[in-house]
Amino acid sequence: MIGNLLKGKKGIIFGALNESSIAWKVAERAVEEGAQIVLSNTPMALRLGETEALAKKLNSIVIPADATEIDDLDALIKKSMEYLGGKFDFILHSIGMSPNVRKGRHYSDLDYGFLEKTLDVSAVSFHKVIQTARKNDALNEWGSILALSYVAAQRTFYGYNDMADAKALLESIARSFGYIYGREKNVRINTISQSPTPTTAGQGVKGFDHLMDYSERMSPLGNATADDCADYCIVMFSDLTRKVTMQNLFHDGGFSSMGMSLRAIEQYNKSFEYDKEHPFD
Ligand SMILES: NC(=O)c1ccc[n+]([C@@H]2O[C@H](COP(=O)([O-])OP(=O)(O)OC[C@H]3O[C@@H](n4cnc5c(N)ncnc54)[C@H](O)[C@@H]3O)[C@@H](O)[C@H]2O)c1
Repeated sequence: MIGNLLKGKKGIIFGALNESSIAWKVAERAVEEGAQIVLSNTPMALRLGETEALAKKLNSIVIPADATEIDDLDALIKKSMEYLGGKFDFILHSIGMSPNVRKGRHYSDLDYGFLEKTLDVSAVSFHKVIQTARKNDALNEWGSILALSYVAAQRTFYGYNDMADAKALLESIARSFGYIYGREKNVRINTISQSPTPTTAGQGVKGFDHLMDYSERMSPLGNATADDCADYCIVMFSDLTRKVTMQNLFHDGGFSSMGMSLRAIEQYNKSFEYDKEHPFD
């Protein structure tokens, strides 16, 4: 499905690390739909990942920035405006990282230095990106800013750890800044709450494969893939969603509205059959 939904639009996409990254798929779809983009990631990610190759493929450029560093963001926004020929229309924040998750720290035994890093990288960076864009008056009227979230912001998922707190803050920033930027410039700010997706960040979560299987069984439409997510992001960047703002939009095959599904019960019952067959285990 290729069209011109983003014809004439320009934007910055953060977070394309490799082919499985959600941001990678969004970048490909945005260009397919006629957008001109700038890619950004940390200098380390640029060394270890494949962002440069994506830029080449999409006839785009990469501008390095650590999204927690205001100076980096300011330089990124200014250089992007130079490259894109002025103001632009959309930003995707597809950034997440928790040192507590990486180091296997339990939620009841968090390292608070790590927690600060989790919150800064995964949530406050969203505020920093928006604030820096606004100070540079970088976005056109009716622009669209998006970040990616997860349902652990509303409900508890064992293993998601302090990323749940970061996602709750991320969604709150979308609402708080959405009001200000909306009143001022008609710029909309939303988060998309995506199904578990097998990416580098996703697979770092404890028990990720079981989580994927569980939500696949629970969701009437099944898990949303990274490609599905890219499609949704394109619609959110397009002029078809100009009055949607300050929302956390679930993109999860229905998971967030479910209590229990037949497919999940059937799987759960199998554990009882095993108990009957192995009463002394
Ligand atoms: N994979 C999932 O199951 C899932 C589900 C819901 C939401 N999300 C969210 O989607 C977003 C993208 O993650 P992904 O799953 O595509 O994984 P990914 O690992 O491909 O992407 C994460 C990106 O964050 C970048 N990053 C880390 N620290 C940064 C910093 N300081 N500055 C700039 N960039 C930085 C990484 O370099 C990487 O490109 C994240 O916000 C993640 O929490 C993922």
